[in-house]
Amino acid sequence: MGKKHGKDDHAPVSGTTHAAHPTMSLNLKVWRQSKKDAQGQMVDYRLEGVSPDMSFLEMMDLLNNNLVSQGQDSIAFDHDCREGICGMCSMMINGQAHGPQKATTTCQLHMRKFKDGDTIVVEPWRAKAFPVLKDLTVDRSAFDQVIAAGGFVNVNTGAACDANSILVPKENAELAMDAAACIGCGACVASCPNASAMLFVSAKISQLALLPQGQVEAEKRVKSMVAKMDELGFGNCTNETECEASCPKEINISNIARMNREFMKAHVTGREA
Ligand code: SF4
Ligand code: FES
Repeated sequence: MGKKHGKDDHAPVSGTTHAAHPTMSLNLKVWRQSKKDAQGQMVDYRLEGVSPDMSFLEMMDLLNNNLVSQGQDSIAFDHDCREGICGMCSMMINGQAHGPQKATTTCQLHMRKFKDGDTIVVEPWRAKAFPVLKDLTVDRSAFDQVIAAGGFVNVNTGAACDANSILVPKENAELAMDAAACIGCGACVASCPNASAMLFVSAKISQLALLPQGQVEAEKRVKSMVAKMDELGFGNCTNETECEASCPKEINISNIARMNREFMKAHVTGREA
């Protein structure tokens, strides 16, 4: 049973409690913003009956169920897979992108990481290139535009049976796979004091630059993607390494060094595919 709280300024938003299992009561401070360009504010909620086994998003679902049953507007937040794959669940939790657990997306974060009576501050990603649409949802289509600028392979790479005939050094194959783990969540941008997208862009460039199939368009790709990144208002990298620390897929900042090398090479050779 959740711990009893004293008098509170804010109306409690009660949830279902189960006598057999201890539940938590939380004080939530959530960013509410009715629409893009509207004035937003932090709003306090008391939530009871939170199971430690709930994911963070299930806790938000509980809060929303209670808000709706009280005739209030639910809190908008993005999610899709809830399996750490799609990168949609972008939330800044107590000032940390995706919350306090390393290498974990918000949807895979469980409430057992918090304590009964905790205050949890929940905000959207904050970056010029990711404008808030409503509450905790932001427009991350800037990432799509960066990918559309060159994050693909146009050349015919053959059928599945051809894959084994193109030899790839094991180390390169593994580095490419590591880079390809990026789920495009945007935590790197939200955590960087410059709102730089270089970890994301470098992962997308690296996953192709490390493979033979990515070589044909490599110079054009890095030039286009970096130019688009700059055009969309992402900041530059000043080696803060907050991006790597907050990345739920542990994308390594060595990818940024690789992107810089690819960029220099493209400009020195001056060739384009
Ligand atoms: S590099 Fe990491 S933090 Fe950035 S978008 Fe990819 S998965 Fe998310
Ligand atoms: S909802 Fe898909 S990664 Fe969290």
